[in-house]
Amino acid sequence: MIYNFDEIIDRKDTSCVKYDALEKYFGYKDLQPLWVADMDFKTPDVIIKALKEKANKGLFGYPISTQKTDTLVKEWMKKRHNWEIEESWISYVNGVVPAYSAAVEAFSEEGDEIIVQTPVYFPLFNHIKSNNRKMITNPLIEDNGYYKMDLEDLKAKITPKTKIFVLCSPHNPVGRVWSKEELEELAKICLEHNILMISDEIHADIVFKKFTPLASISEEIADNTLTLNSPGKTFNTAGLNCAYAICKNKSIMKKFMVEAQRRGITSVNVFGYVALEAAYEFAEPWLEELLVYLKNNISYTKDYLTKYNSKVTFLEPQATYLLWLNFKNTISDYNKVKQKLLEEAQIALNEGTSFGIDGKGYFRLNCALSKNKLEEALGKIVTHF
Ligand SMILES: Cc1ncc(COP(=O)(O)O)c(C=O)c1O
Repeated sequence: MIYNFDEIIDRKDTSCVKYDALEKYFGYKDLQPLWVADMDFKTPDVIIKALKEKANKGLFGYPISTQKTDTLVKEWMKKRHNWEIEESWISYVNGVVPAYSAAVEAFSEEGDEIIVQTPVYFPLFNHIKSNNRKMITNPLIEDNGYYKMDLEDLKAKITPKTKIFVLCSPHNPVGRVWSKEELEELAKICLEHNILMISDEIHADIVFKKFTPLASISEEIADNTLTLNSPGKTFNTAGLNCAYAICKNKSIMKKFMVEAQRRGITSVNVFGYVALEAAYEFAEPWLEELLVYLKNNISYTKDYLTKYNSKVTFLEPQATYLLWLNFKNTISDYNKVKQKLLEEAQIALNEGTSFGIDGKGYFRLNCALSKNKLEEALGKIVTHF
């Protein structure tokens, strides 16, 4: 390994949500934070170097993407995901979530129905409600920790008011990489009913099996899909607020951008473009090693819980550094589980129900941290559960 993922960096008092907002969100200060989906690893040096160069110039006026930015995104999609896109299909925004919210507004009217597969990253349903659209859930089916789509349920829930289907791919929090076949079946239904697909692919680079971008499957699907992505998860640059939308269909992109501009979300941070370009041009070797380290942390967690006969179980995710821990065999009262995690184990995990009612009994653990720190957290879990 060239890169040092074992390094422990003190993130306390650095205006960091994960460490500095514990009291605000959990009511306790001294918890080990394993919640918010960012990593405790330092961003790759090649990105830091590019940011320093930019800072040293001392000019922070309004930035703009260039041909180079587009080319790097296009090449990244080709080399990482074998997806051929054109530069003209890309537009930049200041985050996947703001872009998603704008898309909800652009492609539906108040009272329209939007389908989302729960349990899922909560802003994907929050922004349906906050835009006064009707959220329709198409819960995933769970079988021994493995989640599948329920397409029969989806078909049954479609009405003339259904305007958008929201895909989280790979899926946060259940860690699935949807197969090409699963996506094809899903897209067939959406195409038949003229339902736009929004595909949140922010976790696409952190995968342990082949990932298929939804819009890469066919021309027809590409014409009906708005893809949202960012280097934020992959390179730990979420706070630099640089994301992008990809869409082959010009009229969809145009409509999306009208709303994005209206909301003022097309102003990317001046450091955001710098980080994106450095990441996609130079940081791929770092990503390869990150994936090995994460995979190892995941297997380590699995072995650790087994070794100490913990009642907490999980299936190794196909993507993401987020572990969907099942606490159903521990204490039947989940409020007590929560209390015990906070007061006795003293660790901060995301509560399963924040991802939807079907997340009851689960807690999400972020394992993107040094192995030593992970071991410390696992020790606390097996002592109490
Ligand atoms: C599925 C998913 N989409 C979007 C985001 C956030 O994207 P952004 O920070 O670009 O708004 C996250 C962060 O955890 C996520 O898990």
